[in-house]
Amino acid sequence: MDSYSATLLRMPQLRSEVETQPDKFRMLTGERPTGPLHLGHLFGSILERVSLQNRGVETFIVLADYQVITDRDTSANVKNNVREAIMDYVSAGIDPTQTTIFTHSAVPALNQLLLPFLSLVSDSELRRNPTVKSELAASERPLSGLLLTYPVHQAADILFCKGNLVPVGKDNLPHVEITRTIARRFNERYGGVFREPEAMLTQTPELPGLDGRKMSKSYGNAIALGMSADETAAVIRKTQTDSQRQITFAPERRPGVSALLATAAVCTGAEPEDIASEVGESGAGALKSLATEAVNEYLADHRARRRELESDPTTVDRILADGNERANVIADATLAEVRAAMGMDY
Ligand code: TRP
Repeated sequence: MDSYSATLLRMPQLRSEVETQPDKFRMLTGERPTGPLHLGHLFGSILERVSLQNRGVETFIVLADYQVITDRDTSANVKNNVREAIMDYVSAGIDPTQTTIFTHSAVPALNQLLLPFLSLVSDSELRRNPTVKSELAASERPLSGLLLTYPVHQAADILFCKGNLVPVGKDNLPHVEITRTIARRFNERYGGVFREPEAMLTQTPELPGLDGRKMSKSYGNAIALGMSADETAAVIRKTQTDSQRQITFAPERRPGVSALLATAAVCTGAEPEDIASEVGESGAGALKSLATEAVNEYLADHRARRRELESDPTTVDRILADGNERANVIADATLAEVRAAMGMDY
């Protein structure tokens, strides 16, 4: 059985364990600060983190800044993207007193774990990693050492705090798999320091961008959480629809119309098919107004909280400084254990 099927099969049991024994889990997940967070992030991952946090699972969010330079030659905007992400987390309900938000570049001991970890994997194992393979296929660039070792770096992100619950999308499963392998091999070689983390697959289906493709800032099809109501109306207005007046939900045949329906649906909690019959023959213009209103209403509180944070930069600075400090304490302790297990505790 492949790891995707195995993870899917394990999901109901894992979810019920999280529900009944939240204190058995330490959750770590995160993202690369490459641009503004959008509705897809909110529904695909951020709300799940908020609910785990509120259920009492100890939560960590890494802003993986070094991972930004795996596929680009510049780190411009990283700092701003980090700040923007923190504002969206907090506006969405992440409580920085309960959740540790940190940037991995600010945690030296986390990065030092990379050295022993690299000794535990072979170059062919790394070359087989689907993310590494697809990145390599998609770009003209030569494979950098950092891109090749991406999954090992991600293992350090997870294992530095001995995280055992890693909510990720399907595309990140191979990284969790290699993290388990690294934890197991380290323990076999040097004694039991790490536990093997488990992936938790997102429950919600992926919200498409406004053109039906994956929602992504680079496709110009995303509704960023920080947009104003007017900016939201403007991107929705630009959505390519068709001339059929009767609105139906048909993602393959009518990507624009269906993306608008899916967007309105997640924001109102209704089914896309029901919204389609509600709009009926009123056409794409009416659907766009409905979708705009649904998004703007749903995000009104989020945006109000965000505007407050935007006008108070020291709060954002403090959240990150606190998170980095907490992450450093934990990383220092784990690295000390690792070095002791390896007999390098001078
Ligand atoms: N690679 C992840 C992504 O691009 C981001 C990430 C970095 C991550 N470190 C992590 C996710 C550790 C989960 C756990 O989406």
